[in-house]
Amino acid sequence: MTTAAASPAAETPPAARPAGAGFGLYLHWPFCLAKCPYCDFNSHVRDAIDQARWRRALLAELDHYAAGIADGPEERTLTSVFFGGGTPSLMDPETVAALIDRTKRSWRCAADLEITLEANPTSVEAGRFAELAAAGVNRVSLGVQALDDAALAVLGRRHSAAEARAALDIARRHFARWSFDLIYARPGQSRATWRAELDRALAEGAAHLSLYQLTIEPDTAFHGAWRRGELVPASDGTAAALYELTQDRLVAVGLPAYEISNHARPGQECRHNLNYWRYGDYLGVGPGAHGRLTAAGANGGTVKLATRQHRAPEAWLAAVERTGHATRTREPLAPEARLAELMMMGLRLDEGVSRTAFRRETGEEPECALDMERLRPFIDGGLLVLDAAGLRTTAAGRSRLDGLLARIL
Ligand SMILES: C[S@@+](CC[C@H](N)C(=O)[O-])C[C@H]1O[C@@H](n2cnc3c(N)ncnc32)[C@H](O)[C@@H]1O
Ligand code: SF4
Repeated sequence: MTTAAASPAAETPPAARPAGAGFGLYLHWPFCLAKCPYCDFNSHVRDAIDQARWRRALLAELDHYAAGIADGPEERTLTSVFFGGGTPSLMDPETVAALIDRTKRSWRCAADLEITLEANPTSVEAGRFAELAAAGVNRVSLGVQALDDAALAVLGRRHSAAEARAALDIARRHFARWSFDLIYARPGQSRATWRAELDRALAEGAAHLSLYQLTIEPDTAFHGAWRRGELVPASDGTAAALYELTQDRLVAVGLPAYEISNHARPGQECRHNLNYWRYGDYLGVGPGAHGRLTAAGANGGTVKLATRQHRAPEAWLAAVERTGHATRTREPLAPEARLAELMMMGLRLDEGVSRTAFRRETGEEPECALDMERLRPFIDGGLLVLDAAGLRTTAAGRSRLDGLLARIL
């Protein structure tokens, strides 16, 4: 998704936004009505789901983490909750309400706690938005994917563009903050068709948009079709041109990219995802969820614990019912892995990795933590900037981040 050519977007440091890392909670709902052919997320189709049983299990795992964190090195204030999937808009609103309620009882929460839920834009799910808002959700992220019926059919989606627009109308009525996702660089897409679709998307007036280049992931139906020659993805050149067009168009309308694929009006960034990219701490509850938690280490330092829950829904459920949680791994990251993650996350952001984050995660300034000989050619070549604020990519660097990271880490 990051191989596109440089955009002429400004290289000045990004506009100020609330600084610092937060503390987030991710809750994973692993079920969908159908498996989309491009998707490799931990999402599964089941004939029947015992919602009450899943509610009990998710609450139990939440309680498990709440008990563990109480012993943590510092008092924490929760800044965001994110219901991701799968399709969390298929959860019983009662389950969502119970999880939010338990979360608020378990942690001190920021006054402006952001509670996002990912939703599919079908009429059934949009019909639940009022109840989800009443449950405490204050931000939705809708997987619109395309505003073109033929493209939606290719993507295997179960909604039309008109249905997606209707869902956006309902979202607007119930949530103060809403965003939607589109996938571009689809087979056969040209600059002209993407530009027209992007304009239709911008006309919806969202303050946040996630615009992803289609990736052909291993073990998906699209991967099989691609191998058989039945699906021809956009060429690298077309994908790069569409990326550039996207950056230019969104900067022009006041929705610059704050992360490679995420655009927002200043102040409307997704705080939960911003915290990931800033390498802040977060808990992961539910099948396959990951977490990162800072704990006291040796000699006054800290360690970063990486947690991962059982991935398969039934294995997760069985483990939680047996032991109260389904933690598969919980281990400290080696210092090199911690530095690599800090860079892989932070260099996706326009603001980059701050000096504060370098000191927090490595105990050192970037000049000491990093191999400056390796970095120097990319600084001189205009792909990276290292200054008083920290280390960041330029627009040109961000557009080829995968290759850049491979060479500097
Ligand atoms: C967890 S998924 C989807 C959430 C929700 N179930 C839905 O489909 O709307 C989050 C987003 O990742 C994006 N995505 C998933 N697979 C992708 C792929 N192979 N290439 C590009 N974007 C992808 C989609 O835009 C999707 O909305
Ligand atoms: S894209 Fe969304 S609805 Fe489709 S399979 Fe993935 S998680 Fe489920």
